[in-house]
Amino acid sequence: MTVIAIHPRPGSFSDRWIEYGHERGIAVQQVDCYASDVMSRLASAQALAWHWYHGSATDLLMARHVIMAAEMMGLKVFPSTATCWHFDDKVAQKYLLEAVGAPRVPTHVFYDLDTALAWIGQTTFPKVFKLRRGAGSRNVRLVRDAGEARRLARKAFGGGFKPAGGFLADAPTRYRKARGRGDLLGVLRRLPTTLLNIYRTNAQIGRERGYVYFQEFIAGNTFDTRITVIGDRAFGFTRNVRPGDFRASGSGHINYELDRINLKCVETAFDVARKIGSQSMAFDFVKDAQGRPLIVEVSYAYLNTAVQQCAGHWDEALRWHEGHIWPEDAIIEDLLAACGQGGA
Ligand SMILES: Nc1ncnc2c1ncn2[C@@H]1O[C@H](COP(=O)(O)OP(=O)(O)O)[C@@H](O)[C@H]1O
Ligand SMILES: [Mg+2]
Repeated sequence: MTVIAIHPRPGSFSDRWIEYGHERGIAVQQVDCYASDVMSRLASAQALAWHWYHGSATDLLMARHVIMAAEMMGLKVFPSTATCWHFDDKVAQKYLLEAVGAPRVPTHVFYDLDTALAWIGQTTFPKVFKLRRGAGSRNVRLVRDAGEARRLARKAFGGGFKPAGGFLADAPTRYRKARGRGDLLGVLRRLPTTLLNIYRTNAQIGRERGYVYFQEFIAGNTFDTRITVIGDRAFGFTRNVRPGDFRASGSGHINYELDRINLKCVETAFDVARKIGSQSMAFDFVKDAQGRPLIVEVSYAYLNTAVQQCAGHWDEALRWHEGHIWPEDAIIEDLLAACGQGGA
């Protein structure tokens, strides 16, 4: 019988994974992946599932290494190395998407100031500046001219940037979302914890420096399209941009109308997921002036409820299957199937 090791992190995919294991009579072994003897603890398991994420400096430091070592021991792991080596790293994703020939937004990265300044001097604006880390559009901004680009480049090769942003990062959006939920008081109550988390993350992860990243600006998108591919299922929704802004991620305005989704995005997401070999991957698309969908970024760790709220999903033949599915369930089913315990 398959023993599946699960690293518990309350509030993450592991909540549902553990529940799913109990419901289906699967042998679940809870394992602390931070324990120094984690490799020997994993020796009796056939699979490991760990929803590690960008909000933990420790995860960023060591999760990829534990995962690769577990794979070397012969375990089936979620997320596999193919699924997560590029997670929370838009620089890595640039190379990844280029390597597999994915339709993508052209991206430029420089590792020294002189090369960056020379490029800035001969390119056109606006461009989009990003840090490789961050979510919810926090570290994404429009650069209107060469002067602004030069200032950012000097900072990138000087003091660097705080990856968790400043204390007021995206405050208007946070305010709008909380008001929508009727939760302004809750936000105020959590404020000290939020500020402490921002402070801690910035202190632990260290500054982002030594590279500068610019992306072509794809103008005119009022929403982006997120396609999440888990095995042979694709879930889709769109996200409206913030009012008066080009950025959708983190706006909180998710739309589930199917006629807003270009099936070319679904097709592309399946194709690129196969080439990457990813078990589970969210693809964010914008469309260019010719209406062609281009990938902005990819991520294995996404908001589970947003996927669960999709009315159904497409299979690889683009046939529609009605019904809500928790992404955690799909992930664990595929992992068990990979261990030879299909149809669990
Ligand atoms: N090059 C671009 N051109 C046009 N819009 C973009 C571009 N890059 C990002 N966006 C918009 O900004 C949002 C955030 O960018 P993204 O790279 O996905 O960062 P994050 O990791 O914070 O989600 C996207 O959801 C998209 O709406
Ligand atoms: Mg995004």
